[in-house]
Amino acid sequence: MSITGSAGADPIFIGIIMAKITSKFYCKECGYESAKWLGQCPGCRAWNSFVEEPVASTSGTRSFSKSSGIRPARQKPVRIDEIALQKEDRLPTGFKELDRVLGGGIVVGSLVLLGGDPGIGKSTLLLEVSRNLAADAQKKVLYVSGEESLKQIKMRAERIVNISGDLKFMTETNIENIVATIQEEQPDFVVIDSIQTMYTETVTAAPGSVSQVRESSAQLLRLAKENGIAVFIVGHVTKDGNVAGPKILEHMVDVVLYFEGESSGSLRIMHGQKNRFGSTNEIAVFEMEGSGLHEVLNPSELLLSGRPVGASGSVVSCGMEGTRPLLMEIQGLVVQSAFNLPRRTTNGIDYNRLNMLIAIIERRLNLEIGKYDAYVNITGGLRIAEPSMDLAIIMSLISSYMNIEISDDIMIFGEVGLSGEVRAVSNAEQRIEEAIRLGFNKIVMPAYHAKKFNDRNLKDCELIPVRNIRDALQIMKK
Ligand code: TYD
Ligand code: MG
Repeated sequence: MSITGSAGADPIFIGIIMAKITSKFYCKECGYESAKWLGQCPGCRAWNSFVEEPVASTSGTRSFSKSSGIRPARQKPVRIDEIALQKEDRLPTGFKELDRVLGGGIVVGSLVLLGGDPGIGKSTLLLEVSRNLAADAQKKVLYVSGEESLKQIKMRAERIVNISGDLKFMTETNIENIVATIQEEQPDFVVIDSIQTMYTETVTAAPGSVSQVRESSAQLLRLAKENGIAVFIVGHVTKDGNVAGPKILEHMVDVVLYFEGESSGSLRIMHGQKNRFGSTNEIAVFEMEGSGLHEVLNPSELLLSGRPVGASGSVVSCGMEGTRPLLMEIQGLVVQSAFNLPRRTTNGIDYNRLNMLIAIIERRLNLEIGKYDAYVNITGGLRIAEPSMDLAIIMSLISSYMNIEISDDIMIFGEVGLSGEVRAVSNAEQRIEEAIRLGFNKIVMPAYHAKKFNDRNLKDCELIPVRNIRDALQIMKK
């Protein structure tokens, strides 16, 4: 006898069971699933991130059809020498920098996630990449937008690029329709802008919800692998609201790229978070201009352009972004404080690091700098987390405090410890080479490295080793 047919079945009881299986709670940051609401996500430790959503009734990828009894063909296990390997096909994006971040171009049949804040330039970049692939590489490209109308796309396209070749646009948000179109058109490269606007019929939740974003991406993943199509998915990074972030997709895609930068500034940095076909250490630098995004092949030069000459508090240092050395200007300003508790403000470096460096100057050099307001700024909107900037920050603060300018042909790097000692840093050789390439004549650096470079023939460049910040102060006073 079936339950529904039984006279004794309690309809309320059945109702409770139904309610339990039709909705679940998901973390909108990382996609963690839970039967009940939780204040803090056990997966990613985010607070207040759980949202209730209907459970995916049928999954496009996970389940095989039970009703028809058809299961996918069974695969045989193979030995590693039985796997035929051909060199993977790569599509050049037309941007040397982007190709490098991808590990040598877009791999055919790969799924790439491009994340970033709204308005950072994701659509602009992918429109330019689409154009390059269609016009220069003679590929068939489909750009699917769920955010902008065809007219808006056309207006933007006409402003920034010369569209030619086989590049088609479509405004659609239904994944089933998109998949059908792709199977019909068989493009080589597809852009899905953005995954949060797409929805699949297999899930009843609203577009942008965790299960929709996941299921839609799973269908695109299968499509990419089965047809050998490269697919770029745009994902907005969202801080609030009920929209799922791109993080929940990171495990299923092949490559995760993030596009960052201050939206007020023009500099944009792209870095890889995950890459199945290359290293994640590379970055690409772009500049947003009125005519679209342009890649910056020599970022150090751009970062140093417009540097003040003969101003105290301005020094040049070299930080590493991935495997690439970047020269940048550090500006320090030390002024008399109007309050008992001096103000300290940082832009691009850690606030606590500044406090520590000021304490070191005060104690080890006997300068009463702690009473003053201090501001430190890294130009270009860069954020540097490595300690190799310490010495440069200290020298810029002292330079501003004593009002002594530091000559503009000096580059400074080195970590500073609590006793005021200057410590070695990684990649010293690359930093020195970058400084020489851009015409710096003097490099103030940890004594440890100078020993290694002394016997080398460095043309027109003097290495100035320092053991502690007292040595550095002497150099400045000279
Ligand atoms: P967009 O690519 O639409 O951002 P996303 O897709 O990441 O949300 O870029 C939007 C911003 O870029 C917008 O604020 C204006 C600026 N922009 C330019 O400065 N120059 C340009 O040529 C274009 C197309 C956009
Ligand atoms: Mg956009």
